[in-house]
Amino acid sequence: MAQVSSIADEQSSQSITLRIARYNPEKDNERRFMEFNVPYEKWTTVLEAILDVKKHFDHSVAVRYSCRQATCGSCGMIINGKPRLACFTKISELDSNVVTVEPMNNFPIIRDLAVKFERLFDTHHKIKPYLDRDDTELTSDAKEFMQSPEELEQYIQFANCIKCGLCNSACPTMATDSSFVGPQALAQAYRYVADSRDKGKDSRLKIIDDSHGIWRCHFAGSCSQVCPKGVDPAMGIQLLRGYMLGFRS
Ligand code: SF4
Ligand code: FES
Repeated sequence: MAQVSSIADEQSSQSITLRIARYNPEKDNERRFMEFNVPYEKWTTVLEAILDVKKHFDHSVAVRYSCRQATCGSCGMIINGKPRLACFTKISELDSNVVTVEPMNNFPIIRDLAVKFERLFDTHHKIKPYLDRDDTELTSDAKEFMQSPEELEQYIQFANCIKCGLCNSACPTMATDSSFVGPQALAQAYRYVADSRDKGKDSRLKIIDDSHGIWRCHFAGSCSQVCPKGVDPAMGIQLLRGYMLGFRS
């Protein structure tokens, strides 16, 4: 039975029950929830509520965060059933008296809300996330590779990725195929393939032309629905297929 602990706050008239998933894979057989009564204001984020619990009740709650401004991509978790950034989710916008936080799906759990990012970083690295271009092409007259606004428009949305992993957490294919490259890395493959300055398109397409690459996506579209930065991985995967099938060059 979960025990409810309460943080007294004379300034705030509103409070929610914050349910935090607790699980230590080295000691626990199953996940359990601890409940806390947490005061909030209309601007209070889920991350701030978790940090309140750490400060007042249990410092051992494991949570990863850094920037607190939706930039570093560290604080992804499942909040009331949906992958979200805890620092970018206001309690007042959840429209619920109960807020449940759990670790992201499709990531191994380190402890509580903190998960391992190795698979995401490995797949991201695999697709060569950099411009593949020979710098010796630059001359004293041409010191940078120029690009028109139209060429920039082809990929700029995808450059907003902060590697938070929410898309991979939402993806049903990630849950069933442990070798799937995943929406985050495939979206980044598109970001570089579509960049007019890049010359590595053929080798990059070869890497993802695989039964665990772009052809494994079932186009559920859940990745694009949860991205906090407006990236559309599902569309990127479809556009990559266009390159593979010769509809784009
Ligand atoms: S595509 Fe969006 S959801 Fe996926 S890792 Fe990048 S920022 Fe996060
Ligand atoms: S703490 Fe950096 S994105 Fe949330």
